[in-house]
Amino acid sequence: MSTMPQPDTSLIVACTVSRDVQNFDLLIEDMELALGESWGDLGFAEALAFFGQPEAQALEFIALAIDETDEENLPLMGEIITQAKAGGIKVILIAEDVTPASLHALLRQGADEFVPYPLPENELGEAIERVRLQEQALPAAAAPSLQSSNQKEGAVIVVHGLAGGTGATTLGVNLAWELATAEKANGPSVCMLDLDLQYGAVATFLDLPRREVVYDMLSDTEGMDDEIFGQSLLTFQDKMQVLTAPMEMLPLDIITAEDVNRVLDMARRHFDYVIIDMPSTLVSWSEAILTAAHVYFATVELDMRCAQNTLRFKRALQAEELPVEKLRYVMNRAPKFTDLSGKARVKRMAESLGISIDVQMPDGGKPITQGADHGLPLAQSAPKNPLRREIAKLAASIHELNTKDVKAA
Ligand SMILES: Nc1ncnc2c1ncn2[C@@H]1O[C@H](COP(=O)(O)OP(=O)(O)OP(=O)(O)O)[C@@H](O)[C@H]1O
Ligand SMILES: [Mg+2]
Repeated sequence: MSTMPQPDTSLIVACTVSRDVQNFDLLIEDMELALGESWGDLGFAEALAFFGQPEAQALEFIALAIDETDEENLPLMGEIITQAKAGGIKVILIAEDVTPASLHALLRQGADEFVPYPLPENELGEAIERVRLQEQALPAAAAPSLQSSNQKEGAVIVVHGLAGGTGATTLGVNLAWELATAEKANGPSVCMLDLDLQYGAVATFLDLPRREVVYDMLSDTEGMDDEIFGQSLLTFQDKMQVLTAPMEMLPLDIITAEDVNRVLDMARRHFDYVIIDMPSTLVSWSEAILTAAHVYFATVELDMRCAQNTLRFKRALQAEELPVEKLRYVMNRAPKFTDLSGKARVKRMAESLGISIDVQMPDGGKPITQGADHGLPLAQSAPKNPLRREIAKLAASIHELNTKDVKAA
C-alpha cells in the first residue's frame, strides 16, 4: 500500500482505526468500495492524536476495528469513541470475537453502529449510509432556533453566473464559508439562500439534504414567521445556515418578488451576511434581488459566449433602469499573471463590453470539483489552492468594509 500515491489528506472523510488494518482485509476492500481513496488508516494512539488536528474536522466517521486481543485495552477503545464523538465524528464499531459485555460497554460509550467481522456482504456500506443519513436527518436539531428579537440588517451579497458553469456557486458557497469563519470568536452570522430553484447545487456542494419544508416555506411566505423560516434552514458545520434549493424542480416563477422580499427581510433581520445564489436566467424577481443587493457578483469566463451574455444582461438591466452599478464582474479561470496575451484579452473584453472586471479568480484545477463533490468548502478540502486564497481575500475585504461601515454608522 505504501507504494501507492497518497491522496491529499484534506480529502479524507473517514479512517479505519485498528491495531493493524491488515488484520481486517475485508474492511479494506469494503472501505475502498464505499469511499474510493478518500479514507485513511490510523493506529489507536495515532487516532487520538489526529482528532485534535484541524484536518480531523473533515472526518465523517471512523471504523474502529477490534478483535479479542484488543479487549484487554477496553478503556483505550472507549477513549477513542469518546474523543471521536466529541469532535462530531461518527463511530462504526467492527468487532471480531469480542464478548457481548465488551461490545455492550463500547456501544454505551457512544459508538453509532456495530458490524461483526468478518463483514457480511454490504453490511459496512449500509452502516456507512445510515451514519451519513443520521447526520442529515435531524432537521429539528440542525435547524437553528432564531431569536425573534433579532434586529440585524444583514448585508446582501449575490452571485449570478452569466453563463452556465462559470463558477457562481463555487464563489457563493466559499465566500459564505470564509465570511462565517472570518473571525476566531464571535464571527459574523451567515445565511446562504439557494434561489437557483431548479439546478441549485449549494446542497450538493455542502452535502446537505434537500427537504420538503423549503417548498412549504417558499409557497406560503405570507404565513412565514421566525420559526418557520428557521426550520427551512440547515446548519452547516455549526458555522453557517443554508436554505437549499427545494427537493423538486420548480418553475422559477413559483415565487414572486413579494415572496423574495419577505424571505430577504427575514434573513437580513437574523444574519450579518445573506449570500444568494441566483439562476442564470433573468426572472420576474431578479429586480427585487438586485434592488436589495449590496454587492452583485456576475461571473464570466474569457470566451465569446460570456461576452455576448454579458452584453445582453447589461442591456436588459439598463432597459429596465435597474442599478447596474451594483454589478461586480468576476472573471473566473482567469489567465495567469504571466500569461500576457491572456491578460491583454481580458482587458480587451472588458473594454469592448464597457465593464470593469473587478475580481479575477484563477483556475484551481481538479481539487475544486473534488472538494465540492465531498461536500466541503475549499478552506477544508484545498486550503492552499490559489482559488481558495483569492476567495478568502475577497471575503476579508468585504468583511473589513462592512465592519467599518457598521462602526461609522
Ligand atoms: N476557478 C475554478 N477552477 C477549477 N474548477 C472550477 C473553478 N470554478 C468552478 N470550477 C468547477 O466548475 C464547475 C462549475 O462551477 P459552478 O457550479 O460553481 O458554476 P455555476 O456558475 O454555479 O454553474 P451553474 O450554471 O451550473 O449554476 C464545478 O465543477 C466547479 O467545481
Ligand atoms: Mg450554480
